[in-house]
Amino acid sequence: MTTAYPSSRVTAPLGAFVDGVREAVGRGLPPDVTAYLVGERLAPFLGAPDLLTPAQREGDPDGYRQHVLHAEPDGSFSVVALVWLPGQRTAVHDHVSWCVTGVHEGEEHERRYRLVPDGAASRLVAVEDVINPRGAVCGFAPPGDIHRVWNACGTKAISIHVYGADIVRLGSSVRRVYEAPVADEL
Ligand SMILES: [Fe+2]
Repeated sequence: MTTAYPSSRVTAPLGAFVDGVREAVGRGLPPDVTAYLVGERLAPFLGAPDLLTPAQREGDPDGYRQHVLHAEPDGSFSVVALVWLPGQRTAVHDHVSWCVTGVHEGEEHERRYRLVPDGAASRLVAVEDVINPRGAVCGFAPPGDIHRVWNACGTKAISIHVYGADIVRLGSSVRRVYEAPVADEL
């Protein structure tokens, strides 16, 4: 994954969305409830043609690309756009904080895993496949959020992600990449 910080320009819809996230986060509720509220606020903006600038929609042939759209000054949340060209995927990973994702364009495939701890024989077992079309919103909070995401459609896919963490400081929302053997059949 590569990260771009081109987003000095915030579009009016994105600014309105960020205001909504700030209000939801400011309530100080538990992570899963915060994620639910943020997901509610994200849904109306998905697919809006003026949400992102052309630069914020650019992909990268070397891997999926992260555009940082907003980092709240107090570090309480960040908003990014992930741009996936056909076939691009993440490693199996989990997250440092609560997270909300919404598909803005195209379609994303997600496979969720359960870690079976067994010392050196620890392994990951696939438990669920989810196909998220445009407009789909998912929210989750660690633990138990191990997954892999990829673009299996024939066109560019773009999703908006909100994390309860300062992505500029951390570089990414990934807590851990899993190297354990994977049982991928469902
Ligand atoms: Fe993820």
